[in-house]
Amino acid sequence: MILMNDFKAEPPELREAMLGAARRVLESGWYVLGNEVVAFEKQWAVACGVDYAVGVGNGMDAIEIALRALDVGSGDEVITTPMTAFATVLAILRAGATPVLADINPETALLSIDSAARCVTPKTKALLLVHLYGQVRNMKAWLDFCAKHGIKLVEDCAQAHLATWQGKVAGSFGAAGAYSFYPTKNLGAPGDAGMLVTDDEAIAQRAGRLRNYGQSIRYHHPELGMNSRLDEIHAAMLAERMGWLPEFTERRRQIAKTYQMGIKNPKIRLLASPEESLAHVFHLYVITCEQRGALQAHLEQHQVQSHIHYPIPIHHQEPCRDIARDPQGLGNSERHATTCLSLPCHPQMTDSNVAAVIAAVNSFQGA
Ligand SMILES: Cc1ncc(COP(=O)(O)O)c(C=O)c1O
Repeated sequence: MILMNDFKAEPPELREAMLGAARRVLESGWYVLGNEVVAFEKQWAVACGVDYAVGVGNGMDAIEIALRALDVGSGDEVITTPMTAFATVLAILRAGATPVLADINPETALLSIDSAARCVTPKTKALLLVHLYGQVRNMKAWLDFCAKHGIKLVEDCAQAHLATWQGKVAGSFGAAGAYSFYPTKNLGAPGDAGMLVTDDEAIAQRAGRLRNYGQSIRYHHPELGMNSRLDEIHAAMLAERMGWLPEFTERRRQIAKTYQMGIKNPKIRLLASPEESLAHVFHLYVITCEQRGALQAHLEQHQVQSHIHYPIPIHHQEPCRDIARDPQGLGNSERHATTCLSLPCHPQMTDSNVAAVIAAVNSFQGA
C-alpha cells in the first residue's frame, strides 16, 4: 500500500540524529523550556525571517495564544474559513472570540476575499488566514484588506512550513503566525508541538507568559494563562529534523509537479497550480472528483491510500451549526468537502510510487 505518510521509511541517518537528540536531552537532566527550546526557537525565527519565535505545546494553542496576545477575545469577531482543521476554529472559541466563516475560492480552496468582505462587521477584530495545503497566495491583497478594515492578520501556518509568497515566509506577514509540528506536518515532532512567530516584542513576551500559566517571573501570575510549554525532547528532535526540511520540501514539490503533468483524467480536476510568486510546500496534494467515493475505493483497490481534507466543513460540525457566516452562504466549501481527495505526497515516496499513483488515478473510469 502506498501510504499518506511513512515515517518508518525515513532515512536511517535522520533516525540516528533524533535518537542522539533524545539522549542529549535525557543526559542534560532538563526537560521542559530549556536550552534546546531556546535554540530551536532561534532557529525557527531565522528560518521564518521574524524576530521572535515562542515554542508552545501544539498548533492549536499557538493560534489561541496569538489571539489572546493580541487582545482578541470576548465580543470580538474573527473571520476565517470553514475548510480547515477543526482546531483553527476551536482556537478562536477557546480565546473567547466569535468565529465568522467566509467561503473559499473553488480554484484554490483558500479563503475568498469577496466573501471575507461580506463578513466584516464593526466587531471584526482579526482575520485568521489558513495557508491551506501548503499555499500562501495573494498576501498583498490580504494585507490591504486588513489595513482597510483596521483588523489584525493572524496566519495559521500549520500546513505551510516555510512556504513563501514573493520570497517572504508564511507567518511573517501578519501580526503573528502559528505553526504546528504535529507528526504528519512538513516539519513534525514525534508528538505534539507548536510555535508562534512574530516581529513584535510585546506579543512575543506576552505569548511567553501565556504558555506558562500567565507567569511573568517565577510564581508571579499577572494574568491567567495556560500550560502549553514545548518539551526539550521535541525541540531537540525538531532541530535535527529541520536540517532535512529543504530536501523533503523539494521532494514534495517534485512529486506535485509529476502529478500535475501526469494526471490526465476528465473525471478529475486539479487545484490551481502555483503561480511564480508562490513557493507552495505541498503539505497535501489535493484533487477534486464528483465521484469521490468511487475514486477512493478504486485507489484503495490499486493499493493507494487517500484521505479527505476535509469531509465536513466547520459549520456542519455539531457544536458549530449556528456559527455566523457569509450571508450568501458557504456553497463552495460545501462542494469542496464532498469532492476533495488528498493523494499521497510525502518525501519518502519513490518515483515508482508516484507513477503508480498516477496510473491508478488515470485508470479511474467511474460510473
Ligand atoms: C490548518 C491547521 N490548523 C491548526 C492545526 C492544529 O495543529 P495541532 O494539531 O498541532 O494542534 C492543524 C493541524 O491539525 C491544521 O492542519
